[in-house]
Amino acid sequence: MPQRRFSRRSLLGGGLAVAGVAALCGRGQARTAGLPPRLRAAAQGERRLSLVAAERRAKLLGADGPDSAVWTYGEKLFEVVRIAQGETLAVELENRLAEHTAIHWHGLRIPNDQDGVPYVTQPPVRPGERHSYRFTPPDTGTFWFHPHCDTVAQLGRGLAGVLIVEGDETAPYDADLALLLKDWRLDPASGGYLPFMTQRGALRAGTFGTVRTVNGETAPRLTVRAGGDVRLRLLNLDSTRVGDIGVDGGEAAVIAIDGNPIAPFPLKDWRLGPAMRLDLVVRAPAAGGEVRLMDYFAAEPVVLATLAGAWAPARGKAFDPTPLTRSAIPEPRIRGAERLTFAFATASKQKSALAVSADDGDPLAAALLDSLCAASTVNWSINREAWPVGDHSRVPKPLAVLREGRTYVAELSNETPHVHPIHLHGFTFKVLGSTKRELPVHFADTVLLTPNERITIAFVADRPGDWMIHCHLIEHQETGMMGYLKVV
Ligand code: C2O
Ligand code: CU
Repeated sequence: MPQRRFSRRSLLGGGLAVAGVAALCGRGQARTAGLPPRLRAAAQGERRLSLVAAERRAKLLGADGPDSAVWTYGEKLFEVVRIAQGETLAVELENRLAEHTAIHWHGLRIPNDQDGVPYVTQPPVRPGERHSYRFTPPDTGTFWFHPHCDTVAQLGRGLAGVLIVEGDETAPYDADLALLLKDWRLDPASGGYLPFMTQRGALRAGTFGTVRTVNGETAPRLTVRAGGDVRLRLLNLDSTRVGDIGVDGGEAAVIAIDGNPIAPFPLKDWRLGPAMRLDLVVRAPAAGGEVRLMDYFAAEPVVLATLAGAWAPARGKAFDPTPLTRSAIPEPRIRGAERLTFAFATASKQKSALAVSADDGDPLAAALLDSLCAASTVNWSINREAWPVGDHSRVPKPLAVLREGRTYVAELSNETPHVHPIHLHGFTFKVLGSTKRELPVHFADTVLLTPNERITIAFVADRPGDWMIHCHLIEHQETGMMGYLKVV
């Protein structure tokens, strides 16, 4: 794949404290400190949003194929909500599904009672019921939302939406497109679903979809202004697939990871696991030309989408993406920080039967998990503990109790030969380094642990509550690889 470098001016100039080319591709200092401050004053006011979770029909197998039953929050396949930083989101969820649901706001640093985890942070929203959420997202960026019980089936049928918090651009791009990557487990003859979970998949790398889509279409072609700088917000909404994202036929830079701005660096390839996001700037081709967004992970590279240049050309200057503005994520103070370790491993079957409950006196001690929220079986564990199985299991003890306001440095250790995209609710953590790969220091809410890799993260536990930590490969999450941290 083509690989070009930015001009030296773009790396060192502009008053940015970028440490130079070496830091761009490897370890080094955080490349967020030098980002410019936000220009616009925070917006105010409230945005009302009504989401009706229901079964609807969609054409996922092409115009001539059979249609499929999808579960969505509105008439569109995926709701894409854009608000300005500072606005309050007031959401009214109505559940018209035949099973309970809730909405988890993935990547948002909001109060624990808005986090949307049934039994842990709220009661499940039963069929026919309504539930409201109200919060003010503190950070700009590309986020998403989805249910948190029976996720394998609910997300498998499409129940997810995108939340974009605007206000991070120092100069507008020529276009801003959200690209939602999701595969579907469909039988191409009937348009019906194949089993979302398989024993083989749940024990290994997950059960893959049969139809790959971007925004619900196979390899869409998007017309963009020739020569323009296009912001692409990539979201991996799939339950299983890890993409190896690259761009073929043009120049591209990474400008944010999980919505968190980072000093722009050339995109070589980026492993995008389930739930992870990547914001890119891509230079649009000349009129009549094409730039392709690729997944290089498969033996045969897959074209995810094509950008086709059209109309009167924009600019003509060298490719030199402007950085996004700095976010206000609390900076972990590594010196004197508390240490934690989390080992992601398989589980022994005996352990699952024990399902040790939270301490009496903890409100969670009373919470019983129903079959949608308990694990379906136990294959995986975190620190040798598995999320409990079966109806009427109690919510287990927290994996760790943290003190509000302290910095924690955690080692995430993968003791398996499979990849695990590990997500922590409520806190945006700083990825400090890996034992296996050159990773830029960056902020994230989900980090991909490759086989036998150890990754060190740090975060400030600045809000109290019970915060989930789990693998976002949904079959792993739903067969044990889930727990929570209690911040008091
Ligand atoms: Cu995106 Cu606990 O989830
Ligand atoms: Cu996993």
